[in-house]
Amino acid sequence: MLTADGRVVMISGASRGVGRAVTDRLLASGFKVSGGMRDPSKLPGSDDVLSCRFEAEETGSAEAWVAQTVERFGRIDAIVNAAGINPKVKVLDQGEDELDQMWRVNVKGPLRVIRAAYPHLAQSGNGRVVNMGSLSSKRVASNVGYAMSKFAVLALTHGIRREGRDVGIRATVLCPGYVATDMTVGETEIPRHEMSQPEDIAVLVETLINLPNNAAISEMLVHCQYEAML
Ligand SMILES: NC(=O)c1ccc[n+]([C@@H]2O[C@H](COP(=O)([O-])OP(=O)(O)OC[C@H]3O[C@@H](n4cnc5c(N)ncnc54)[C@H](OP(=O)(O)O)[C@@H]3O)[C@@H](O)[C@H]2O)c1
Repeated sequence: MLTADGRVVMISGASRGVGRAVTDRLLASGFKVSGGMRDPSKLPGSDDVLSCRFEAEETGSAEAWVAQTVERFGRIDAIVNAAGINPKVKVLDQGEDELDQMWRVNVKGPLRVIRAAYPHLAQSGNGRVVNMGSLSSKRVASNVGYAMSKFAVLALTHGIRREGRDVGIRATVLCPGYVATDMTVGETEIPRHEMSQPEDIAVLVETLINLPNNAAISEMLVHCQYEAML
């Protein structure tokens, strides 16, 4: 297993939810964290924490975040792409605005961070990418548009696994069902205490980035309830 020692992790969506839980967990374990978020005041900076502005919809934002991270810490060892949105989109809806926004935030956001950080991940020799997919990366429930974006996140993950393999990059698409964050506040299918907890997802992320190059996990499905097809 790898250790936290000196390693630098970039985490998008570090303001709240899963991204924030991962941030808190990795800091407690001794990693240095560069948090990317729309409002950097939401994560107080310190010797081990750099709070950066990252707006997934803005061209150049990922590149600027990577540059600030390298200027501060001198290296990047892992990326956790946790920023995401889930406006509801059905096939027979009119209009494409929400679909386009999910493409920009859920898919192009992670793609741009990976592209910008790639040389540094390669330099690390043990570069890690954890993309927040969803069980909606694996099956289609009521929100088809969200599933389309999360299937694309799965494809992106397999793409960087393939392209980064020879330089030691390993990538995982982490696919939970319901997680008790702001994203699921309106969900009534199961009680919140039965949903996966963001702190438990954070434990999985830490495990994924600590696994050695010869024990990589490409897809990790996390269930809070039984699903017959998965
Ligand atoms: N919750 C679930 O049940 C669940 C299940 C499976 C997968 N996921 C996935 O897990 C990831 C984290 O979800 P969550 O539950 O933590 O959601 P959340 O609590 O709603 O948090 C969403 C995060 O994404 C950030 N974000 C949204 N739009 C952004 C943009 N344009 N640019 C940069 N950051 C942006 C938010 O930042 P602000 O604070 O600035 O809004 C926030 O940090 C997402 O990719 C989600 O799709 C969630």
